[in-house]
Amino acid sequence: MKKDLLSIHHLAREDIELILERSAGLKEKHKTGIPYQPLKGKCLGMIFEKSSTRTRVSFEVGILQLGGHALFLSSKDLQLGRGESISDTAKVLSRYIDGIVIRTYKQSDVEELAKVADIPVINGLTDLLHPCQTLADLFTIRERIGSLEGLKVAYIGDGNNMANSWLHGAAKLGIHLSVAVPKGYGPDATVASEAMEEARRTGARIMITQDPVEAVAGARIISTDVWTSMGQEKEHDKRLKVFRKYQVNDELTRHADPDYLFMHCLPAHRGEEVTDEIIDGPHSVVLDEAENRLHTQKAVLELLMGEMRR
Ligand code: CP
Ligand code: NVA
Repeated sequence: MKKDLLSIHHLAREDIELILERSAGLKEKHKTGIPYQPLKGKCLGMIFEKSSTRTRVSFEVGILQLGGHALFLSSKDLQLGRGESISDTAKVLSRYIDGIVIRTYKQSDVEELAKVADIPVINGLTDLLHPCQTLADLFTIRERIGSLEGLKVAYIGDGNNMANSWLHGAAKLGIHLSVAVPKGYGPDATVASEAMEEARRTGARIMITQDPVEAVAGARIISTDVWTSMGQEKEHDKRLKVFRKYQVNDELTRHADPDYLFMHCLPAHRGEEVTDEIIDGPHSVVLDEAENRLHTQKAVLELLMGEMRR
């Protein structure tokens, strides 16, 4: 396992499998009330330049349950927000704390931080990627369905950070992923080519289409995300029009496997990318996904910050 978790693409397949396996163990321990504190005395710094409910709370609670402590570091309060360099910030924080979670805009900033820091850095979302969410999604599917290999997944909507991390995750694990996006709103070109290349090794079939019905046909998983991500608020009205036919609703889901699962990282914009009847319906596993952020991130924290680090 590498020092950091910056992208699913950087993880070996065995690393992902190890994280999912440890997540199951940690979830079981938590549910049965067995205390487990391998990170006693360790401190996790959490730098957030964007809003968050799930990522912030699940990391704070997760490190606490593992015996450690979290320091929430809003970029507004850090000297980083007044122009101190990422590099100096990383070097200084490395002298105080044992790990960093960062949520910011540019993936390159997270990579720079990780390069300079002596401590593990975890990507808590950038404009490009959201690897922690993808790990929780893969774990949720594993819990519900078992095997991931050969599974048919449809991602519908914006080719954003979630679409990109889905591409990386599916390619690594041999999942067949169809991404349906409007013209001009596709996934990142580098991420797509990384996924295509990886897919050739793992047997994953990756398709990018503009047709949501084609993507959903026979899918066991339908996943979507907001049409307007954090930082794109000014484009909201335009996006509403562009994405209209990409709504996950009763009509679209009729084309899926009858036992399909509906997934969404949340927060959702109900009535935009998904209707109430689907997100609140019997196929929806969105609350499991949210809960599983806690368990999968505890596994990541333990593997990167604990004695298990290889
Ligand atoms: N899914 C997710 O990352 O949610 P938050 O933005 O609330 O952290
Ligand atoms: N694509 C969304 C995900 C939020 C968890 C965003 O970046 O705002």
